[in-house]
Amino acid sequence: MFITFEGIDGSGKTTQARALAAALSERGYEVLLTREPGGTPIGDQIRAIVVDNLTNTNMTAEAELLLFCASRAQLVAQVIRPFLAQGGIVLCDRYADSTMAYQGYGHGLDLNALRHILQFATGGLTPDLTIYLDLDPRVGLERRRRGRLLMSEDWNRLDDKELAYHQRVHAGYEALIAEQPERWLRVSAAQSIEAVQAELWSLLKPHLPAKKRKRPRKTG
Ligand code: TYD
Repeated sequence: MFITFEGIDGSGKTTQARALAAALSERGYEVLLTREPGGTPIGDQIRAIVVDNLTNTNMTAEAELLLFCASRAQLVAQVIRPFLAQGGIVLCDRYADSTMAYQGYGHGLDLNALRHILQFATGGLTPDLTIYLDLDPRVGLERRRRGRLLMSEDWNRLDDKELAYHQRVHAGYEALIAEQPERWLRVSAAQSIEAVQAELWSLLKPHLPAKKRKRPRKTG
């Protein structure tokens, strides 16, 4: 089973992905938690290029998109497919929907072109389920501002730009959910970590595969 986590920045999906991985392995499932961009040695090098917005200030949206997809192609082939083939559950912190939401709806790249590129990069591997941590973009930005040191206390023009961008990304997620509602589990991220965790678990539980029973040991 392939489960992905999605949501705008500040929605807390990394914390929730970790907690779910722990909860599943405690219950005896074989679980692999990975993240994007990254998750392989090659992917981690690509991540370093993409996230270094101090050095790589003039990266085009197209170049960024192809780097995300290169990292993903490597992760799918080297990590995700082999683990799924062994019958395990793969949890991935962001996947193709992030590209649609951020590069497509956020940066305005052509959505149909993106679909073809994603299909090519992943060989058509789509998640069985996607957990969406839904958060108001303004709350997400406030959370991130609080985490930043040396930031001025006042809301500034850059914040306005960032908010508008995250509002487009948020609307993008809504459009993606409307296209395939059966694949998505929506959880409100505007609650305590524990409350999100509990709601997520109750929504996910009915979808989990039956665990393979260990064969009883023969005696005598
Ligand atoms: P992430 O590591 O999830 O950041 P955080 O843990 O802080 O939420 O993602 C880093 C950034 O990369 C995030 O702003 C979303 C962006 N991103 C894209 O724009 N497109 C993509 O395809 C992916 C995977 C991430």
